[in-house]
Amino acid sequence: MNHTNTNPTAELLLDGARYSLPILIGSEGERTIDIRQLLDTTGYTVLDNGFKNSASCTSRITYLDGNKGILRYRGYAIEDLAENCTFVEVAYLLLHDELPNQKELDDFRTLLADFALLHEDMIHFFDHFPASAAPMSILSVMVNSLVNFYPEMSNNPCENIDIIACRLISKIRAIAAFSYKMSIGEPLIYPRHDLTYVGNFLNMMFDRPVRPYTVQPEVERALNKLLILHADHEQNCSTSAVRLVGSSGGSLYTSISAGINALAGPLHGGANEAVIHMLEDIHADNNDYMKYINKAKDKNDPFRLSGFGHRVYRTYDPRGTIIREACDEILKTLDLQDPLLEIAKNLEEIVLNDSHFVKRNLYPNVDFYSGIIYRALGIPTTMFTVMFALGRLPGWIAQWKEMHEDKSTKIYRPRQLYIGSTYRPFIPMEERG
Ligand code: SDX
Repeated sequence: MNHTNTNPTAELLLDGARYSLPILIGSEGERTIDIRQLLDTTGYTVLDNGFKNSASCTSRITYLDGNKGILRYRGYAIEDLAENCTFVEVAYLLLHDELPNQKELDDFRTLLADFALLHEDMIHFFDHFPASAAPMSILSVMVNSLVNFYPEMSNNPCENIDIIACRLISKIRAIAAFSYKMSIGEPLIYPRHDLTYVGNFLNMMFDRPVRPYTVQPEVERALNKLLILHADHEQNCSTSAVRLVGSSGGSLYTSISAGINALAGPLHGGANEAVIHMLEDIHADNNDYMKYINKAKDKNDPFRLSGFGHRVYRTYDPRGTIIREACDEILKTLDLQDPLLEIAKNLEEIVLNDSHFVKRNLYPNVDFYSGIIYRALGIPTTMFTVMFALGRLPGWIAQWKEMHEDKSTKIYRPRQLYIGSTYRPFIPMEERG
């Protein structure tokens, strides 16, 4: 790297020619080599499976330090936000780059309350999903369909982003809760103006005509914290899907629907459900931890320890640490026991002391303990990844908005290294073997 001037460069020697590539330095000191002119100037592309070594954009929203386990939204530490804010405050911060004052927060809350209802015609969609339909697929279909019921402003999304964002952040609750109620054959519970954002969701999920539900402050606080912890996470798989679809000019609704589909995968947001199934399997196997540890080590076995490992974190995921502490708190408050928590803690202890996993920097991530809290709140396992999507929605919208406001944005269109057949003459049918 060339240090002689204030604008550092990386020197590249290729086919006898020397190229100076600018080095860009982020506000936290991160460094990246700017290769935006590489193909035009050298004729070379770079190969980077899974984009492990690539920065797809610049961003002002979330900062991660994978070695130190740091996570900040708009410069604020996740620990401070999780402890002191509501999810609605953090959603505002992500969208507007500032924590709201009381009037801004009240106005934001009023918009969310006003947009809580789902178009009545959309409710008939639920009649045609089988009871066994995966909630994440329902969520993706329904969010994608919003553009048909609320087509206005889709052409100039950034000018109306506050309205469109509030509409989506508000309505996703009813879509999620209604899909749950339909799956258990219970009548839909409509949103109420007198409840908070999280309180309304809990009420739509658990209220019943025969047994009214009371929103407990501890439950509401626990769910606020979980949604905050999931609200954004820089350029993860699903956020990249949102940006990619948005880069083609797709509407915010279709971009978010793509993000929901990406999040559903068991290597990503679907891991929170997979963790519970793994812990239940260990429990059913008389807590035979080593059976699963050995499967995870076996190169020939596709089994992975769900809830462990991360593309960025090489130490504890700070969100996992917060959630682990919240597990004990919520179970004690609700006077609940969950055998899976003990199994999770024992499994963590074994993994953190096994050189195979230590060598690979495998620590519990955000998904490892979150399911324990969702279970304590009464949320069914099939809805865990939907909860992740509810939390991540403001982050996705903020990232989509930032991409559209960035004048350097181009349609996402990666290249490849072709390794297939070279030219060969066409073979008519009668000459084929
Ligand atoms: C989320 O990106 C984000 O920020 C995502 C997220 C967000 O907020 O948006 O943080 C949310 O998706 C968290 C991750 C949830 N997924 C899981 O818990 C699924 C289990 N974890 C893994 O499959 C894996 O760790 C990933 C997918 C999370 C990360 O995979 P990478 O970065 O591609 O790492 P890798 O597959 O190349 O693994 C490196 C090594 C391999 O061993 P070797 O080939 O070097 O011998 O570590 C091993 C892997 O086999 N490994 C695991 C493992 N994770 C990695 N071995 C056993 N169990 C695991 N969980």
